[in-house]
Amino acid sequence: MRAIEMTDPQEFIRLNTAPQLPPLVPEIRLYLASEIVPLWHKTEEELAQEGVAPPYWAFAWAGGQALARYLLDHGLKLPSVLDFGSGSGLVAIAAAKAGAGHVLAADIDPFAAAAIVFNAAENGVSIEVTQDDVIGREDSWDAILIGDMCYERPLAERLLTWLTVRAKAGALVLMGDPGRTYFPKTGVEKLATYNVLTTRELEDREMRETSVYRLTP
Ligand SMILES: C[S@@+](CC[C@H](N)C(=O)[O-])C[C@H]1O[C@@H](n2cnc3c(N)ncnc32)[C@H](O)[C@@H]1O
Repeated sequence: MRAIEMTDPQEFIRLNTAPQLPPLVPEIRLYLASEIVPLWHKTEEELAQEGVAPPYWAFAWAGGQALARYLLDHGLKLPSVLDFGSGSGLVAIAAAKAGAGHVLAADIDPFAAAAIVFNAAENGVSIEVTQDDVIGREDSWDAILIGDMCYERPLAERLLTWLTVRAKAGALVLMGDPGRTYFPKTGVEKLATYNVLTTRELEDREMRETSVYRLTP
């Protein structure tokens, strides 16, 4: 990986990623980390000093892959859909391909926002991107999609409180999760389970059993 200035997300993505096909969703092409360990460590150790978040956007997480697979196989013909914590944009792209009308991808990381724009174009779909933290917003999205977001307690707690409110208001809330620590134990209905190939460098095993759930209000 080349040493570069971190000021330009598009330049960083261009130099440090290559188009790849996530194993469970090979019909979607994403610019993902070409070298996992250097990219992860570089941003964690060196770039933290510059206030740059770890490059979650550079990987297709198991929860996102399972949810994307589910959407492609079952369709999502709804007018307005939010992919929260979009990362690479994988789930948002799957939603657009599955028939959703307007898709909004939300991620507070500016590198993710740039990656989503790249990846949407690569897959020929139209996706709106926001860097706003939309937790708490009362927009009437028909569906809210959550790929692998229960990895950190404060975030998971805030998120689930808001999702419960949105689900009660009528939104379909779908979550892909491989058994992360802060995934809710109750109030969810399992819809499908997949074995997702991953890597020991990122996870502690090569395969993660990952399920798709609907939040039940
Ligand atoms: C583990 S990644 C999941 C990415 C993608 N959903 C997937 O499954 O591949 C978590 C993502 O959530 C984003 N994130 C964290 N807090 C957020 C917030 N409050 N609003 C929007 N995105 C957030 C991070 O920047 C990161 O890209």
